Amino acid sequence: MSQFRFINSSAASEVRIYRNSGDACKAAAELIVELVQKKNDARLGLATGSTPIPVYQELVRQHQAGSVAFSQVQTFNLDEYYPISPLSDQSYRWFMNHHLFKHINIPANQTHVLDGTVPASFADQHAVDFESWIHQAGGLDLQLLGIGRNGHIGFNEPFEASVESACNLPTRLVELHPVTRADAAPAFGGLENVPTHALTVGTRAILNARRILILAFGANKADAVKASLTGPPVSTVPASLLQMRADRVVWMLDEAAAAGLNS
Ligand code: PGA
Repeated sequence: MSQFRFINSSAASEVRIYRNSGDACKAAAELIVELVQKKNDARLGLATGSTPIPVYQELVRQHQAGSVAFSQVQTFNLDEYYPISPLSDQSYRWFMNHHLFKHINIPANQTHVLDGTVPASFADQHAVDFESWIHQAGGLDLQLLGIGRNGHIGFNEPFEASVESACNLPTRLVELHPVTRADAAPAFGGLENVPTHALTVGTRAILNARRILILAFGANKADAVKASLTGPPVSTVPASLLQMRADRVVWMLDEAAAAGLNS
């Protein structure tokens, strides 16, 4: 693993580059285990997608080996499609149950995922409530993030705005970006089946997390990683906004995702 601070005009971000994604995921899991060992009621912000699956496998392995207990932990997931049933295997509630929650000793009412079944007229209020649950739990000790090819974090998609307002987005119902829907098409058996909307934790709660681990693997993430670290913080590359909290952020990359940082 090589580790350095990537310095551009606005921030010095910690970047760790691993030989492969497996090593990076083990290291991310280790940081989470260390946190929970130190603070057994840690508040974890969790992510879905293909990227963190090996992180969850490692957490399950360490739990089953007796190294870590989750009975006091609370988790808050980043996002969920809307509308979607939690019974659908494309839902993020299903994903989390399948990859993590059912394998560890966390009570169900401490695993919080935005609800894709709330009535449309209550979706906005549900998003507000969800962010208040995070707040009332004392905020997030750690937020795990992936990154979209378009630079999104959670479902905070690129848009035109000032950096200040882009960093202050609340948890809310959003329309999905075409790149995000295209990337989800295989999982839904075609673009026409991908929901047009989702609920997402906003940049405000993400950036308030006391530690942020952002994972990116593979050549198809290299452009987004490069733009996020080498360009200025801008609303059109949401992950670049992490530069505003660079002292809390660790980028955990494989060599392919980091390729654009050398050129
Ligand atoms: P992925 O998604 O892990 O499936 O690549 C990451 C993201 O869109 O945040």
